[in-house]
Amino acid sequence: MAEQIKAVRGVKDILPDEIGVWRAVEQVAFSVLEGFGFEEIRVPIIEELGLFERSVGTFTDIVQKEMYVFKDKKGRTLALRPEATASVVRAFLEHQLYLKKRITRLYYSGAMFRYDRPQKGRYRQFHQIGAEIFGGAGGNYDGELIVAIVRILERMKISGFTVELNSVGCPECKAKYGAELKKFFSERSQKFCHDCRTRAQHNILRVLDCKVESCKSVLAHAPIMSEILCAECLGHMNEVIAYLASIGVSVRTNPHLVRGLDYYTKTVFEVKVENDENAVAGGGRYDNLVQQLGGPSTPAAGFAIGMERICAVVAVQEMKKPAISAVFLGEKALRDGTPLINALRSRGIKIAADYDDRPLKSQLKTADKEGTRYVLILGENELERREFLFKDMKSGSQQFVSFDSIEQFLKGLIDAADAHMR
Ligand code: HAM
Repeated sequence: MAEQIKAVRGVKDILPDEIGVWRAVEQVAFSVLEGFGFEEIRVPIIEELGLFERSVGTFTDIVQKEMYVFKDKKGRTLALRPEATASVVRAFLEHQLYLKKRITRLYYSGAMFRYDRPQKGRYRQFHQIGAEIFGGAGGNYDGELIVAIVRILERMKISGFTVELNSVGCPECKAKYGAELKKFFSERSQKFCHDCRTRAQHNILRVLDCKVESCKSVLAHAPIMSEILCAECLGHMNEVIAYLASIGVSVRTNPHLVRGLDYYTKTVFEVKVENDENAVAGGGRYDNLVQQLGGPSTPAAGFAIGMERICAVVAVQEMKKPAISAVFLGEKALRDGTPLINALRSRGIKIAADYDDRPLKSQLKTADKEGTRYVLILGENELERREFLFKDMKSGSQQFVSFDSIEQFLKGLIDAADAHMR
């Protein structure tokens, strides 16, 4: 046999079995975001490398180590997007969307690429659903973004998650904090890993993001941002907390949360699900980015949810819509039954049919093996009595349902499964 080609390291196929969960997350997320007034935008996967250098930051791990960079046939240096905020800001400026609305709310979904070390929950091609708000400076906007994430998780029946919040302050606070952190670091530099020492030279805040255990334990005693914040930045953070409290969303402040992208100012947040170090979502405010990329001064904030991570925590079985298959016993049942099944399909009921003449026992065995929830059986006796034999493979129960009431009956099951998902 010829040698098989496998998917490249760090990327994965999303197989039919997983698609139900992916679609459910997308539907829920899009409907929650639209409910908050967000509109969809679709931005390209390739951009000029400079876009990410100028936004995510030249000295971030993402730009330094994780970008897929290549030259096109004309010698332009392009990159596969490692995230989409930069692209959304570029599009917001390129199409002067800031002239259309005072507050612009945009959401997007799609693949991102980071050449990171693959491990559980970390891929080189992964997918995000993200949202960005342009034009709103107050803490209520940041609060609203966090509420949207919480609503998406709740609607997906995910519990046991924590929202961690911090403020990295305005550029002045950041500089002041950086100086304090540098002092702390230089007094203990031998205790830090090689990467931290490099980070400290270019962007000291990145040190707080180190995942090495020995660095983390030294950093537990590092200076705290909230003690350094100016009155305006502190007031802003309190506004976010007050907004969330008014909606009944609880957050945990994490004074060392800085995030791995340079564009943040003031609010930063991450959402973690119990027993998982990896965040399912992260975001924050980036009041200077629009201007940094050549646009008018525009406050902004946003977040992105990691699809692979959120889908991994959604209970797969719960999300599966009931799969229905039809089985025909004998030629007459097949001939007269096919139009009935097609009529149900044209009324929006999804039914897979097995047209091969096989004994009922082996048909049911296949249905069981393939995880089909319900089977509609039609033999000559049923045909004569104008009814299906309906079998629930999960409970093993069966009942006769007349041709006249089968549509209502199946729709009832589907509605009940949908309600369960909501
Ligand atoms: P981020 O924290 O880099 O933020 O990514 C957001 C989410 O994407 C993470 O919380 C995680 O769930 C998922 N993610 C990131 N890297 C990987 C990976 N290698 N494999 C699997 N999932 C991953 C951003 O990308 C910002 N653009 C978010 C934002 C929007 N901030 C403001 N607006």
